[in-house]
Amino acid sequence: MTTYAAITGCGRAVPHRVLTNSDLEKLVDTSDEWIRTRTGISERRVVADDEATSDLAIRAAREALAAAATDPADLDLVIVATCTPDWMFPSVAARVQHAVGARRAAAFDLNAACSGFIFALATATQFIQNGSYRRVLVVGSEVLSRVVDWADRKTCVLFGDGAGAVVLEATEKPLGLLSYVLGTDGSGDRLLYLLGPTASPQQRARAETTYLYMNGPEVFKFAVNVTVAASRQVLERAGYTLEDVALFVPHQANERIIRAAAKSLHLPADKVYINLDRFGNTSAASIPIALAEAVERGRLRPGDLVLMVGFGAGLTWAAGLVRWGSPNGTGPGG
Ligand code: UT7
Repeated sequence: MTTYAAITGCGRAVPHRVLTNSDLEKLVDTSDEWIRTRTGISERRVVADDEATSDLAIRAAREALAAAATDPADLDLVIVATCTPDWMFPSVAARVQHAVGARRAAAFDLNAACSGFIFALATATQFIQNGSYRRVLVVGSEVLSRVVDWADRKTCVLFGDGAGAVVLEATEKPLGLLSYVLGTDGSGDRLLYLLGPTASPQQRARAETTYLYMNGPEVFKFAVNVTVAASRQVLERAGYTLEDVALFVPHQANERIIRAAAKSLHLPADKVYINLDRFGNTSAASIPIALAEAVERGRLRPGDLVLMVGFGAGLTWAAGLVRWGSPNGTGPGG
């Protein structure tokens, strides 16, 4: 009998503080018009002085656990996908594990940049499918506002802070992640990076900046191509076609990337989920935030086939095909 890992609850947490495009006009030489037409972003959320990645992760995790009606003491594993941890160690996941009361669970962070949530979902699903664990919490949480250069208009307008979480539970029903594609091309390491605290003086001397660096146009081309290719591959692996997809939930980096990929895949606009206008690019948090919001808004129903695609630093990319729904039929969106 095959075991599957159903998504039984979703949650999200974004900071209260809203930073609009007109706020940014006061910081750098930019305009609301440029940001909206080139990216689709109107505003993003930014943490308060007393908030960090783990705080957002904990809030999103609690919401997902409540939605799934899962006792945190029953969790076997906590994985947090993040590239902006507030502590290098212990992991953000260790803080989440303690804060939510997952006293039996192991916990670790996973860094695949903006592809991190799908990498974590695939990892969690393996632990459930091989019989090691029955309940896993997967979180994507980021505070990019503390690593962007607020004087660099090419990057500071793009990113935002937030977290999203899902609870996975073992079931014999064919729910959850049906197929996935994970990829990495480390030769693209200079296109999108952030130095860590242990970088050598030589690495620092070679870096363009000690803040987040991105070659936007090169990453843009990679993103469109890989989104289209990975979407096709993940569907083929599970034996489905694009017509079977109920909702496409891509990484929220740029509306032009999403529209170009959707056009190439012949996906109609009403099957494409976009919320970057309100949150900007929240890296590993963008897909789980979108999933939680799609459930709240009635855009995701039990039985729906959901196609997710992420891409980012590494370079990395990931696609996942999920059959939405909970084994007892009352799960997210039910
Ligand atoms: O999540 C990780 C993955 N990240 C992504 O997928 C991001 C991919 N890249 C992008 O989304 C786009 O490349 C950007 C939104 C970052 C930039 O858009 P673009 O259309 O590729 O612009 P560009 O970098 O080619 O710049 C065009 C012009 C430049 O001016 P000149 O040199 O032509 O005079 C920039 O200096 O736009 C200028 N520019 C801006 N102008 C006003 C760049 N940023 C801004 C800005 N406001 N914020």
